[in-house]
Amino acid sequence: MARILDHVGLCFDDVLLVPRRSPIRSRKEVITRTRFTKGLRLNIPIVSAAMDTVTESRMAIVMAREGGIGVIHRFMPPEKQAEEVSKVKRAENIVIEKPATIRPDARIGEAKELMRLLGISGLLVVDSENRLLGVITRRDVIFEDDDKLVRDCMTPRSELVVAEEGITIEEAREIFRRHKVEKLPIVGEGWKLKGLITSVDLIKREAYPNASRDSKGRLLAAAAIGVREGEVERAKLLVEAGVDALVVDVAHGHSEMCIKMVRRIRELYGDEVEVVAGNVATPEGVEDLASAGADAVKVGIGPGSVCTTRLVAGVGVPQLTAIMKCSEAADRLGVPIIADGGVRRSGDIVKALAAGASTVMIGKLLAGTDESPGTIVLKNGRRYKIYRGMASMYAMLGREFRFREGEAEALLDASEYSYYAEGVEAYVPYTGSASDVIKRLVAGLRSGMSYVGARTIEELREKAIFIRVTGASLRESAPHDVEIV
Ligand code: XMP
Repeated sequence: MARILDHVGLCFDDVLLVPRRSPIRSRKEVITRTRFTKGLRLNIPIVSAAMDTVTESRMAIVMAREGGIGVIHRFMPPEKQAEEVSKVKRAENIVIEKPATIRPDARIGEAKELMRLLGISGLLVVDSENRLLGVITRRDVIFEDDDKLVRDCMTPRSELVVAEEGITIEEAREIFRRHKVEKLPIVGEGWKLKGLITSVDLIKREAYPNASRDSKGRLLAAAAIGVREGEVERAKLLVEAGVDALVVDVAHGHSEMCIKMVRRIRELYGDEVEVVAGNVATPEGVEDLASAGADAVKVGIGPGSVCTTRLVAGVGVPQLTAIMKCSEAADRLGVPIIADGGVRRSGDIVKALAAGASTVMIGKLLAGTDESPGTIVLKNGRRYKIYRGMASMYAMLGREFRFREGEAEALLDASEYSYYAEGVEAYVPYTGSASDVIKRLVAGLRSGMSYVGARTIEELREKAIFIRVTGASLRESAPHDVEIV
């Protein structure tokens, strides 16, 4: 028989955090470091959503550089998604494991063409057994005849500065400083080529001191997979591309298909990759996914800005209550919670973390930035980008039908095609660079933490006291009785 829970479900707007005595003198003292999964740490608790109008490689790169992580969506062929992961992993490679090479008997014309195609400024010259013979750069070839041979124009290895395997970043930095070179090949016994470090990559690394990186210094990347049989193949390609976390991403994460997929991925890859799963909204959901092997669980059924699940299906749990209840279970099991959906401003991030989440996943606030897929559209003289729920009609029909008139209608009319969309397509204001948006959100988070007197996210949770508020106080909380300029 149906029963009714004896507690009320609350959302972010139903509460405020009570200010508390604070030892914090400057917001800079606040530490925003957190856990994304059991095995991955982030410097800021922000994750970009696995949606086709939010996260591909450009967004994932900026997210990782800022200290968070992006989840590359799965609504594209597996090979393409794996390539998006590779782009993130290559964006700031400290050691390029497979640098571009050329043979000594190739022509200069070929070398020029290869450098142009790959967008790089030099090639390593190797023999048939991958032994380093020299380096040829754009400067060496620029005024040379295309018919000449690479071996006659390269800098031979006797004149190169090279390093041995295992060199540290600090040692490489010192070599670049002392020798004023731009490329540092890494060689093993008998001049076997083992990799390459470039000064450009080291400079980029220093430009983003807060970035989320793996043990090789590469940016962190996560990617979503579904639960159907073919998704095991997708997971394989993503792991080969170097993905750090696979996110088993379905609307109803507390389903047997999802639990099975988590178990499957765990069995296949062990600790090689972190596994995130969701979405759920109950402690039982967290327990089942964590027991199947999930390293983090994503919480949120229906709070998202473009979601209509609660209206269509009548199902959901208000997000603040969902986070609080789920995090009790998650704490017992030692898995972090990702609060997914419904974050409209920085204050909501503070509330979500205070309620027990370790990170928040964001769609709408990032969808209007330069780094989200899609172009800017003009409407009534204002700039917007398109943002859509992944269960919205056009998202379900697939991108390719989006602008092919007639075909979408034909599919919708087909009697065997029956579904009810659980999301909408929307315009969101264009907001410029994602990096600026993230910085503003983090500034708000620091402010919230200092009001509560919390130096760390763990302290925020311990010290947080929520007060329930009325509709009248909600009006009092926003600017009122003024005309905003
Ligand atoms: P925000 O509020 O940041 O939420 O825009 C992003 C999250 O919304 C979820 N999502 C959906 N939920 N129908 C839903 O019920 C949909 O079509 C849909 N698309 C995305 C998802 O969890 C995302 O991270």
